[in-house]
Amino acid sequence: MIPVYARITGTGRGLPEKILTNKDLEEIVDTTDEWIRARTGIERRHIAADNETNLDFCEQAARNAMQAAGVGPKDIDMVIVGTTTPDQVFPNMGCLLQRRLGIHGCPAFSLEAACTGFIYALDIANKYIRSGSAKCALIVGGETLSRMTDWNDRGTCVLFGDGAGAVVLEASDEAGILSTHLHADGQYADLLYFPSGVSKKPEDFYARRDFIHMKGSEVFKVAVTKLGEIVLEALKANNMPAEKLDWLVPHQANLRIIEATARKLKMPMQRVILTIQDHGNTSTASVPMALDVVVRDGRIQRGQTVLLEAFGGGFTWGAALLRY
Ligand code: ACO
Repeated sequence: MIPVYARITGTGRGLPEKILTNKDLEEIVDTTDEWIRARTGIERRHIAADNETNLDFCEQAARNAMQAAGVGPKDIDMVIVGTTTPDQVFPNMGCLLQRRLGIHGCPAFSLEAACTGFIYALDIANKYIRSGSAKCALIVGGETLSRMTDWNDRGTCVLFGDGAGAVVLEASDEAGILSTHLHADGQYADLLYFPSGVSKKPEDFYARRDFIHMKGSEVFKVAVTKLGEIVLEALKANNMPAEKLDWLVPHQANLRIIEATARKLKMPMQRVILTIQDHGNTSTASVPMALDVVVRDGRIQRGQTVLLEAFGGGFTWGAALLRY
């Protein structure tokens, strides 16, 4: 029997038009363009307008990915949206996206694994396709982190941005995704979190307003360690030396974390995809958006090996090694 692989056949992204530069942030909090660039690598980020929501960017990303793959609503037999900023609790973002795109009947759900959500979704869709349970999955990572950011906190508000990225994953007899690797460790829950949840009853229910809380330097240390481990785990699982890797598409949280992971792989930065300067940290949207940028500008060619990785709140972390 010919093995069935899951292969990325289209990518897309959707971004708000509005751009907030580091200089703009100097007017909002006590910070400087120099500090933000030096500590994070971020120069600007896209921010949703008041009348835009996460679903708008997910729809745009999904339409672009479906067009690139040459598939229509009837071809899609699974929809997964990774997000921590859904438009509403239910219907889930997968169903809301189905309605926008005219997709009917197939399973559709959202999942929440912070910045690793897209890799978690890719892992699930890959297993559905490889087992024969699905043939054509639409996978989206989308966020409007600006809506959960404390715009008075210079330690976090300079980091985050909004947007969505999507891929179409199809069954193929040619190798696509070679392996996926997921991890989580809830013992770190207090280092990076957004405290509000529907089930928690706060003192003043109607005054509920929460923000992202992050112990930045502690998150930084665990991220560098876990990402260093997981990229080597993915290579080892495929018996692949690091030199055979053509591209690293990392989660775009901090340039210094990305550089540390590249050093672990002894990879020159020319083979590491960077979009952090333009997008900031868009959580689960960052990897599919970065992938779309380099697929569309022609840097990633069919047949090349690509390693995706992400790390985020939970902590959750994951990687996917694929032949594009
Ligand atoms: N402008 C100017 N100064 C600032 C700013 C700012 N925007 N933010 C913090 N500072 C100051 C601090 O107050 C501190 O001042 P002090 O020394 O007088 O006390 C100093 O800069 C150093 O602060 P640190 O927090 O130690 O700075 P650090 O070098 O660690 O950089 C950063 C902070 C960029 C947040 C970094 O820790 C980081 O990137 N952490 C990891 C983020 C991450 O990967 N998150 C995971 C994914 S996100 C998700 O899941 C949603």
